[in-house]
Amino acid sequence: MPSIIQVDKIANYTDQDVRIQGWVYNRTDKGKLVFLLIRDGSGFVQCVAFKGDLDETTFDKIMRLPKESSVIITGKVRADKRAPGIPGGFEVGIKEIEILQEANEDYPMSLKEHGVDFALDNRHLWLRMPSQWAVLRIRATVISAMREWLDNNGFINMDTPILTPAACEGTTTLFETPYFDEGMAYLAQSGQLYNEADIFAFGKVYSFGPTFRAEKSKTRRHLTEFWMVEPEIAFCDLDQLMEIEEQFITHIVKRVLRDRQPELKSLGRDLSKLEQIEAPFPRISYDQATEMLGQIRSEVTDLEKKELLQFEWGMDFGAPHETELTGKFVKPVFVYGYPTKVKAFYMEPWPGRPEVCKSVDLLAPEGYGEIIGGSERMSNHDLLLQRIHEHNLPEESFKWYLDLRKYGSVPHSGFGIGLERTVSWICGIEHIREAIAFPRTIKRVYP
Ligand code: 4AD
Ligand code: MG
Repeated sequence: MPSIIQVDKIANYTDQDVRIQGWVYNRTDKGKLVFLLIRDGSGFVQCVAFKGDLDETTFDKIMRLPKESSVIITGKVRADKRAPGIPGGFEVGIKEIEILQEANEDYPMSLKEHGVDFALDNRHLWLRMPSQWAVLRIRATVISAMREWLDNNGFINMDTPILTPAACEGTTTLFETPYFDEGMAYLAQSGQLYNEADIFAFGKVYSFGPTFRAEKSKTRRHLTEFWMVEPEIAFCDLDQLMEIEEQFITHIVKRVLRDRQPELKSLGRDLSKLEQIEAPFPRISYDQATEMLGQIRSEVTDLEKKELLQFEWGMDFGAPHETELTGKFVKPVFVYGYPTKVKAFYMEPWPGRPEVCKSVDLLAPEGYGEIIGGSERMSNHDLLLQRIHEHNLPEESFKWYLDLRKYGSVPHSGFGIGLERTVSWICGIEHIREAIAFPRTIKRVYP
C-alpha cells in the first residue's frame, strides 16, 4: 500500500502513488469529474475523481460527499501549475477512497468570510479555514524561531509562576483569585520580576508563557490572555538591549520567510515588506518622537484626525500616534527614554534626567505599533524601595525583589515581546484575536 504523505511535502512525490488522510474542504462537480479540495493539516490539495477511473458506487459517493467528511485517498500525484491548494501546483488523481465519516450536512461555516461574532462563536470550526490555519502555522514558526535564537545565543529557559502575590505592570489590570489562607493571588502580568532573580543565577534567561491583563481596552491589539517571551540579561545596558532585540526580530522574520512562504502568500501578505526587516533598526528618543508627532499633526488637514493626534510631552502614545510614527519607517523603530511617570516602577532613571527613564519600546511598521516593551532595570536598592512606595505597592511582597539589589547588583536589562502582536504584524492581519487559537477578550471566554 502506498505510504501516507503530508500535503506540504507533496512536491517530493510527483508521479508516485500516495495516500493522503484528511478532510473535504470543498467539492465541485464538472460532469465526469469531481474535484475535492482536501486539507490534511499540513496543506490543501486538489484531488480529482474521474468517472472512467472508478466504479460507479465509489464515484457516486464522492459526488455526494459532504464538506468536512474525513477520508483517506489513494492516488497518483501530478504536477499541474493550475491546481489550487496550499502550496498548490499539484493534484492527486483518485484511485481509491476510504470514507471514515460522512460529515453532517449542516456544517455552519461556509467558504466566504463570516461576521466576526459568528466566526468567533464557531472558533473551533473556523480554525479549519485556510486563513486561520495559515496564521496559526506561522505562529508556531514564530515560537520556534524565538526559542531557536535564544537557545543558540546563550539564554537559559526559565519558567516563571502564573500565580503571583503582587503586580508587575501596574495594579489596574490585575486578575485576582482567592488563594487559600494567603489572601488574594494574581494571574501574572509578566514573568519579568522572577526573570530578574533568575539572571543572578544564570546570567541570561528567558521565560515564555501566558500572561494576563484585565485590560479595559477593547481594541484590535488587546487580549486579556496573551503569550509573552521575556528575555532578561545581566550586565546589559539599554544600547546592548536594543542590539539584542533587533537581532532577535531579524531572525524571526527570516525564519518565517524561509519556512512559511505558502502560508504568507495564501494570506496575501506583501513579502517585500518583510524582506526589508534587517538589523539595525532606527532609534529615536521619546523627545524626538514628540517633535515628529507635532510636525505630522501640523501637516494634517482633517480636523478629526488632528484632534486624535493631539499630543504633548509626558503623555503615553496611543494607537493613532504609533500608527503615524511608524508610517515614517519601513523597519521597526525603537523609541527610547519615555517619561518616568507613564512607565512601570522598576525602570532605571536617565542619568541627569530623573523625569525620563531608560525604557525602550519597539514599534512595528505598517501601523502595527508596539510589539516589544523593555528597559534597563533599576539597580539601586534605596531608589527602588522609594519607587515601590510611590507606586503604592506592598513592600512585603517585594522583599525578595529588593534582595536582588543587595547581593551583587549589576546593570541589567530585559524585554517582553507579545507573541500575538508579532504574529499579527508578520501575517499582516487586522485583528490580534486571529493570532491565537482561542482568544480571550473582555467580551469572550467561549469557546
Ligand atoms: O509593555 P509590556 O506591558 O511590558 C511588560 O510586561 C514587561 N514586564 C516586559 C519585560 O520587560 N519583561 O508588555 C510587553 C508586550 C507589549 O509590547 C505587547 O506586545 C504585549 O506584551 N502586550 C499585549 N499583547 C496583547 N494584549 C495585551 N493586552 C497586551 N499587553 C501587552
Ligand atoms: Mg508596553
